[in-house]
Amino acid sequence: MITGGCDVGSATGKAVIMENGIVLAGHVIPSGQKPGETAQEAMNGAMEKAGISSIDEFSYIVGTGYGRSKVPFAQENMSEITCHARGAHWLNPAVRTVVDIGGQDCKVISLNDTGKVIEFIMNDKCAAGTGRFFEAMARVLHCSLEDISSLSNQGKNPPEMSNQCVVFAESEVVTLISDEAELNDIIAAINISVSGRVSSMVRRVGLIEELALTGGCSKNKGLAKALTERLEVTVKKLPQDPQIAGALGAALIAEAKMLKQSEREIA
Ligand SMILES: Nc1ncnc2c1ncn2[C@@H]1O[C@H](COP(=O)(O)OP(=O)(O)OP(=O)(O)O)[C@@H](O)[C@H]1O
Ligand SMILES: [Mg+2]
Repeated sequence: MITGGCDVGSATGKAVIMENGIVLAGHVIPSGQKPGETAQEAMNGAMEKAGISSIDEFSYIVGTGYGRSKVPFAQENMSEITCHARGAHWLNPAVRTVVDIGGQDCKVISLNDTGKVIEFIMNDKCAAGTGRFFEAMARVLHCSLEDISSLSNQGKNPPEMSNQCVVFAESEVVTLISDEAELNDIIAAINISVSGRVSSMVRRVGLIEELALTGGCSKNKGLAKALTERLEVTVKKLPQDPQIAGALGAALIAEAKMLKQSEREIA
């Protein structure tokens, strides 16, 4: 049985294909103007990797993410909170707290031992503590997101950053640059500042270990280190790309639905 999950987010489209409990392929593309087209392109990429030539080969597909209702080939859609929890739990069943940081949202999800959501909170509409924030900082610093990830741990003397609003933080960084602060230190300060915001969200939900990061910002090693230090817990590394955790959760939900249906048919 082949099932699929498609997560159309604000920054990227992700698709995952599963066959009988095994991940056949995952694919990530930047989001375009139209969620339906992003979904199609992400799924086409995953199908090519999995060697699947027709959407008719799928038993069931679940859409998720902000564009979930626009996934043209999905039979159902589900919130990304549910899907990230499910995906992270499958990747590591010991996980009880998931921090999903995507392009425009930061969500902290608390889950039980079956991967069901107990509680969650989301950032307000502001870009602070999201991928957009990191992208704006990278632009001001003329560096890449990979630099924000890898250079952070070399920052030995990070200055205090007081602003978490993207506009004020940009001018704060400009001032730090003109004061000739070291790039590594500024990057470390940015990750420490975001980790402060994320940590207070984690504390509001209530921290239960293990904690894992999902979403594209989980690739930021500097943020993972800053969060580890701030929360005094190890941020668990997931065994597969955490950016596709939502799409994976959607594919798992699709699979569980089909298994339940076939059990009912047999009974
Ligand atoms: N290699 C990388 N290192 C650091 N950050 C990265 C990297 N690759 C992507 N990102 C960040 O991940 C973000 C996208 O994450 P993701 O794909 O989870 O977003 P999304 O699901 O589309 O967004 P949302 O859930 O908020 O709608 C980008 O905005 C970028 O900041
Ligand atoms: Mg997302």
